[in-house]
Amino acid sequence: MTEDFVNTPAIQVLLDKATGQDSAEGNPRLKAILRDLLEATMRVIVRHDISENEFWAAASYIAGIGHEAGLVAPGVGLEHFLDLYMDAKDAEAGREGGTPRTIEGPLYVAGAPLVDGTGEVDLTSDPDDTGTLYMHGAIRGPGGEAVPNAIVHVWHANSQGWYSHFDPTREQTPFNNRRRIQLGDEGRYAFRSKMPNGYSVPPGGSADVLMQALGRHGNRPAHVHFFVEAPGYRTLTTQINFGDDPFAADDFAFGTREGLLPVPNRQGDSAHIAFDFVLQRAEEKEDEGFSTRQRFAAEPA
Ligand SMILES: [Fe+2]
Repeated sequence: MTEDFVNTPAIQVLLDKATGQDSAEGNPRLKAILRDLLEATMRVIVRHDISENEFWAAASYIAGIGHEAGLVAPGVGLEHFLDLYMDAKDAEAGREGGTPRTIEGPLYVAGAPLVDGTGEVDLTSDPDDTGTLYMHGAIRGPGGEAVPNAIVHVWHANSQGWYSHFDPTREQTPFNNRRRIQLGDEGRYAFRSKMPNGYSVPPGGSADVLMQALGRHGNRPAHVHFFVEAPGYRTLTTQINFGDDPFAADDFAFGTREGLLPVPNRQGDSAHIAFDFVLQRAEEKEDEGFSTRQRFAAEPA
């Protein structure tokens, strides 16, 4: 059987009916997208002669993904694809330069304490038997100018690779290793925190099951996540991955990007990273905001 089967009138009529093409009601964009998605799925079924058993196995896998969608999507490269696609559209529109964007990941929590960033900020609230990470740098605009009044949202894992609010050991207090740092006119930031470590997807979860079936691993290098927002500038979603981590060039989530791989200057068990963020100017108000992705939120501690 060839994929021509999908082109037969019976299947084309089925696709039209299934997606409400004969109805004036409903969402036209959704109808068009779902029709293409269904047709592509049907072609894959024919191309690989997918059996009924395999189809329902896939359906129950998808039904079980639940909150691990935030790990499966980066794991299969889709979240990175979105970055590449947005980069390509930016390039087409002549919007280039600045610190590269990279995946947000699923573990941001809104509501972290907003702290004054005129001095060095301590991100870590809890004891952690590990070294200290020191990070500092500037927030600049496209012309090298200092960006005033930026807010740097920082979040990272602890030395065990767990994030506060998502720690199965329940040992972390809320917002450990999470802060929003309010900067002043000079656009300079500095913080210290307990050294994060890389982590892997939860054993036995949907992302792990898929990675194993693909003969891959589910590890990320040690990294630190950022949103950088400032009036008049485009909000940046990015992260730095430790350039000397064994998984720096082999991140299961494809979050590692050129320009985001500083090698920490290690001194004993502590490390120093100097990293400047370069923002693009906002062209419209919407650029200053965040994507509407659903995020966890908690009350400030
Ligand atoms: Fe992360």
